[in-house]
Amino acid sequence: MTRRTKKRWEDQTLGHIGRREARTEFYKDSASRINLNGEWRFLYLEAPELSPEGFMNRETGTDWDLIDVPSVWQLRGYDRMHYTDVLYLFPINPPFVPSENPTGIYKKTVHLNREWIQKDTILKFHGVDSAFDVWVNGTHAGYSKVSRLPSEFDITGYVQEGDNDITVRVYKWSDGTYLEDQDMWWLSGIYRDVELINEPKDSIIDCTVEGDLDSTYKNGILKANITTKQKTCEGIWKLERDGQVVTRGIFQAEEGKAQVRETIPGAELWTAETPGLYELTVSAGNHEIVVRVGFRKVEIKDNNFRVNNQVILLNGVNHHDFHPKEGRCVTREQMEADILLMKQNNINALRCSHYPANGYLYDLCDEYGLYVIDEADLECHGFEWVERYDWITDDPSWKEAYVDRSVRMVKRDRNHPCIIMWSMGNESSFGCNFKSAAEAVKELDPGRLLHYEGDYEAEVADVYSTMYTRLNRLKEIGESDIKGNKPHVMCEYGHAMGNGPGGLKAYQELYRKYKRLQGGFLWEWYDHGIYTEEGKETYYRYGGNYGDFPTNGNFCIDGLLMPDRTPSPAMLEYKQVIAPVEVIRAGTGREVLVRNHYDFLTLGHVTLKWEIRTEEHNIQEGTITHMTALPHEEEKVTIPFLPFLPEANTDYYLNITVCQKEDTNFAKAGHEISKVQFPLNISCDVLEERPKGEPLQVSETTDLLKVENGAVTVTFHKIFGKLLSVGAGDQVYINEGPVMNVYRATIDNDMYKKEDWLNKYFIQKSSEQTEYFTYQTEADQVVVSIGKYFGCLNQSWGFECDYEYTIYSCGQVKVDLKGKAVQRGKLEPSFLPRIGVVMKGNKSLQNAVWYGLGPGENYSDSKAASLMGIYSSSVDEMGTNYVFPQENGHREEVKWFGIGDGNKSLLCKMEAPMGLNLGNYTDESLEEAKHPFQIQRADHVEIHLDYLQSGLGSNSCGEEQLEEYKVKLQDFSMAFVMQVVDDGEVRKEAKKHYLD
Ligand code: GAL
Ligand code: MG
Repeated sequence: MTRRTKKRWEDQTLGHIGRREARTEFYKDSASRINLNGEWRFLYLEAPELSPEGFMNRETGTDWDLIDVPSVWQLRGYDRMHYTDVLYLFPINPPFVPSENPTGIYKKTVHLNREWIQKDTILKFHGVDSAFDVWVNGTHAGYSKVSRLPSEFDITGYVQEGDNDITVRVYKWSDGTYLEDQDMWWLSGIYRDVELINEPKDSIIDCTVEGDLDSTYKNGILKANITTKQKTCEGIWKLERDGQVVTRGIFQAEEGKAQVRETIPGAELWTAETPGLYELTVSAGNHEIVVRVGFRKVEIKDNNFRVNNQVILLNGVNHHDFHPKEGRCVTREQMEADILLMKQNNINALRCSHYPANGYLYDLCDEYGLYVIDEADLECHGFEWVERYDWITDDPSWKEAYVDRSVRMVKRDRNHPCIIMWSMGNESSFGCNFKSAAEAVKELDPGRLLHYEGDYEAEVADVYSTMYTRLNRLKEIGESDIKGNKPHVMCEYGHAMGNGPGGLKAYQELYRKYKRLQGGFLWEWYDHGIYTEEGKETYYRYGGNYGDFPTNGNFCIDGLLMPDRTPSPAMLEYKQVIAPVEVIRAGTGREVLVRNHYDFLTLGHVTLKWEIRTEEHNIQEGTITHMTALPHEEEKVTIPFLPFLPEANTDYYLNITVCQKEDTNFAKAGHEISKVQFPLNISCDVLEERPKGEPLQVSETTDLLKVENGAVTVTFHKIFGKLLSVGAGDQVYINEGPVMNVYRATIDNDMYKKEDWLNKYFIQKSSEQTEYFTYQTEADQVVVSIGKYFGCLNQSWGFECDYEYTIYSCGQVKVDLKGKAVQRGKLEPSFLPRIGVVMKGNKSLQNAVWYGLGPGENYSDSKAASLMGIYSSSVDEMGTNYVFPQENGHREEVKWFGIGDGNKSLLCKMEAPMGLNLGNYTDESLEEAKHPFQIQRADHVEIHLDYLQSGLGSNSCGEEQLEEYKVKLQDFSMAFVMQVVDDGEVRKEAKKHYLD
């Protein structure tokens, strides 16, 4: 006895019922359409079997709701939100799915007039998750699946003049779900557009177009294959460029097929850098359609993939459809804003991870110029975790399901010149079904490359693709010919979760160095946080915030773009690291080397804006406009700055910005492509005598020591060996002096070190013990020396610290700290988040100014986009508001900083540059908070000065911090002078250097 009969949505061998053959989407189409987006009646059920009787007929009960289409029902109050990276939410029992299968029945009435009825009626769903049945006027009209692909049904036979009733029943779980286990929120419903197309009886059904090139790479070959509804018909076509007809002709369809082959001498070629498009208009009978054509050739030659015979480098990003309020429903405006932002940030490639995007996205990539890896809607990652990864991938009964996903993608998207690779899916192991899919794709479209990271041996794929490959391994790949010496592409790297990634530069250097490595795609574009309003708080939810279990929590908050579309600091870093123009200063002279990393453009389209700057002002500037370097070449440029006399105690820099000369379709003339800074190392140090103030008075009790005069009051705790406060007048500026610290609020990229750091080495549980406390009164100064032992709970490693405080009669307080690392046992962390001190400033000191790297947040392994300068900001704005709170807002190489209250400022001048963090919260509250609004405001300004802070790395998924960016247990010393000055005097006083 069979225990179970397959339901329609549990049959992997049933691809569809009544769905039309997949076809391309025309750029323009004369057929009229009715947009069916908007309100539909909606009935939510716990299982399809609970559908009310006769639900497919016109009358529906009164208990139906209204829902807007497109939308995902989980964000309209039905079912529940759930996020997992890998796990299926039900037992693995393919092709069966839970009997409790959330179901939505959608209904809409459409009025069709007589004229409409005379033509054919095509019902098109652009995307429904995950499988659905359709009824028209009570008759079953079809069934389809694959959530991220369109389905069209010819419903001519079911419609009538007047009102027509359309019923769609959508199943959350289907056999297709086994192939849709991508790392994202589980969302369901009609989430892309729905429309009716009024197709003429003599229409053009499809027109596939390839803009090929001949062997000279100069002449275009237009290849169009036209499918007509009439078996025989005649038609005309024309190819236009900017509204001018380039060539035209007629065609004769036989058996519903016609071909156009035409050479276009000297065609303007399409590349991501020069996205020139032609328009092909095809008309037959009463139907006219337009397809945009890009002439370009993608091929592998000499073990590299090439576009128009040029080896290209992909500086890409992985893209999911995402909107913080709508889940996977995205608008055209948002898609365009995304593409523009990518282009403005030097990104030249996009991978549709891990499913075909909305069709419009490819139009934008054609137009603005991005290379695309289009990926089939296929991932069965959950099988890996039961250690039978190829369960369905290698099961022939699933063959059609696998092939269908690739084939329908190719059939929809093949007219887009932007697509250079077809990807058969993601994280689904390898097996016979991928081999079949590969064959099918190659047969349909031999003109593009095949990608699939799960083809680990690059058996069928044209490129050897890996993800999160560590640098060492990447270098090995670059140097070897393993995997058939196929060109390598890194389909994912640089996990942008939370603060990070760092270390991107090292990757870019390898891509640029090794011919075999042709770049990669950062993971990923968007943080998938869900906008939430709760009382007066707004924040973004991630996995687990809906009580969803199991979940991967904030693993979905891993984008370059925050949910509110604020580019994260990592976006700026990436922009600079991949910048197509690199400026290098070889010596100390005026000459710089400008490298052209474009693959097609000369440097003729950029200008170099140069400036000679002090830390604050521009003293000379100019523009260089006539550069000519060819792609992949470099040229020497002399920056014609004039000799000048340096001012005392002033740093000089040569800043160079590479800008766009003219407007492009994605940015205005002047748009910044890259920027770089070279210190000129011309210095003229002038030391002056420290002013003298009133004599300092010293007073003492058993526990306190006070040093004061009219200018300053400094107190110490003798037992705790600590600076307690620094005040001036009746104001206190420092509420607690420097205490050593080795901890930072864990960043996501520290997630694999966190356990050890916090629960084994207890780096957050540090304390200092007083070893000695002495002081000495000298003329015009009092020197307080404090010996401390710094260590963490139950640890044998620590530091012997000598703090020396010099209080000058002028009111300045110098801190000189020397730390000697000690280990008297065996265990110690392999590295520390930081070595530095923390102090508490008065909470009224909210206006910050600093001379160091900025303006944005930067870390030792993520500072390509930061330049030295004097920057100001509020303390709050120095931070980055990560969706999941963590260490943020750090600035490297700070030479001085001030925090003021509008009247007076506390100024801190470093003997040697240090790292700085200023914030209105403690590290503990940052560590504890799960959302920004939970970060408890401290009663002081937290001041972190770091001798060193470890880099960010990308270890939430990928490379750890590189060795040079790890802070090892080591001796250190740091010295700085604090003083209270009028707000207006900060910069002036900061420049003074004193003798001593
Ligand atoms: C990859 C996967 C992505 C995403 C990423 C981590 O393994 O392909 O979909 O899960 O890791 O964020
Ligand atoms: Mg996955």
